[in-house]
Amino acid sequence: MRQNWTDGAAGWVANEAILDAVFAPVTAAILEQAAPVAGRRLLDVGCGTGTLLAKSAAAGAEVVGVDISEGMAAAARRRVPEATVLIADAQTEDLLAETSGAPFDRVVSRFGVMFFEDPEAAFANVRSAAAPGARLVFACWRSEEENPIFSLGSQILIDRLDPQPEPSAPDAPGPTAFADAGRTASMLAAAGWDSVKADALDFTCDYGIDGGDGVEERLATILNGGTGRLAKEQLLPRLGEEGWESLVDEVRAELRRHRVEGVVRFPGAVWIVTASNPA
Ligand SMILES: C[S@@+](CC[C@H](N)C(=O)[O-])C[C@H]1O[C@@H](n2cnc3c(N)ncnc32)[C@H](O)[C@@H]1O
Repeated sequence: MRQNWTDGAAGWVANEAILDAVFAPVTAAILEQAAPVAGRRLLDVGCGTGTLLAKSAAAGAEVVGVDISEGMAAAARRRVPEATVLIADAQTEDLLAETSGAPFDRVVSRFGVMFFEDPEAAFANVRSAAAPGARLVFACWRSEEENPIFSLGSQILIDRLDPQPEPSAPDAPGPTAFADAGRTASMLAAAGWDSVKADALDFTCDYGIDGGDGVEERLATILNGGTGRLAKEQLLPRLGEEGWESLVDEVRAELRRHRVEGVVRFPGAVWIVTASNPA
């Protein structure tokens, strides 16, 4: 997973503005629940390029991020100089030892917690850095079927892979590992978290940033993402430069066909999960 996110960091960083625009409703939902304000100490797990850190610091909170990827952490440090950003595995790292030592009042994450090998142990480890009564708030994807983000346009590339990727178990570490909210709730309870709740948030993934039709923005996120990188690595040598470009054009055409009122936009389905550390 560390290697995966080390390789993926450059693409995520390059697409930061697009992803922040597309995921803005998710960010807002997390911040509404977490209410970061002055005097609160907040930990962002899998902080990526630091979106939640930036917003929470702007609200006055003292912010710490942890990310397993050096590239992501470096981007977060550039974006939020006042944040402490640890390059570490949140599953096992002593998250207090490297910071000022005061336990966290808020633990948040936007799509950063579904990659744990052993989620129960990871959430217990994170809880050990949380103050009594601290609040946990994170967003995770619901099922692939409910989320065209995992297929619209990218399926054309996936279909050309040979061999085809092995289907993974629904709860295997990955973006939709926590699609089953019942399982997530049991796992958090087993890790010692209390009052666990998962609220469905339905929103629109809207790629029409700055008045454009969103085709190039969606294409950029596909090509810079895991599927796009794997497809290019495998298919460019096989198809040659021209063949690869014409395949990319097929993706572009598919995205154009699926525009809604002239814009690439589709439903997004996530859980906003909240829990408390027993007082
Ligand atoms: C989907 S990205 C989300 C990034 C960021 N939270 C955002 O919303 O833009 C997942 C992030 O989790 C980080 N990550 C994955 N496993 C991790 C772990 N065990 N410990 C810390 N960070 C992890 C990745 O490096 C990556 O930055």
